[in-house]
Amino acid sequence: MNLNYIFPTPIWQDILSCDLYNIKMHILSERSNDDGRKVSNVNGWQSKSFSPDELMETPVCQFITALEKKIKLCLEDYGSFKKPVISNIWFNVNPTGAYNTTHVHTDSFLSGVFYVQVPSDCGDIVFERQAQDQYILGSHIRESTLLPSASQWKFTPKPNLLMIFPAWIPHFVEINNSSTKRISISFNILQV
Ligand SMILES: [Fe+2]
Repeated sequence: MNLNYIFPTPIWQDILSCDLYNIKMHILSERSNDDGRKVSNVNGWQSKSFSPDELMETPVCQFITALEKKIKLCLEDYGSFKKPVISNIWFNVNPTGAYNTTHVHTDSFLSGVFYVQVPSDCGDIVFERQAQDQYILGSHIRESTLLPSASQWKFTPKPNLLMIFPAWIPHFVEINNSSTKRISISFNILQV
């Protein structure tokens, strides 16, 4: 039989070519001046929220410029004629033992993450099924890795990897089991 997938959840990935060393140094310098905020982060540091304009004179600017090109393509995939706008950006530093609990990004259309420093075994990003069918699939296939029935889907981060996903999809970050910091940049996108 033919198997069709209707109403799929888009998860975009791309590898950028940013100067990760200078971006990392900027993030670590922000960390030394900012106590951070508590959101989904456990044992990790999350910076305050920045607008793109606030970062234009920093090494993060090259990432923002690359991101702006990519999010236009995401809206094209949706068939949207509106303009994508990066509404806010923040930095994440997860040392050994840090992780992020399940959350969604409210008041946004798309969200995403860009990986700056990712030692091995520093924690995958895990998306969770958010559909009515999870209630009838049954516990016997809870561990399924098949597209129609998987309850979770993992992606392993790597340096310069950009991921963009719908803001409504629940996700969490596994614990950093490495001895090195996991550093990433998160962001939200609106369409106007
Ligand atoms: Fe998130």
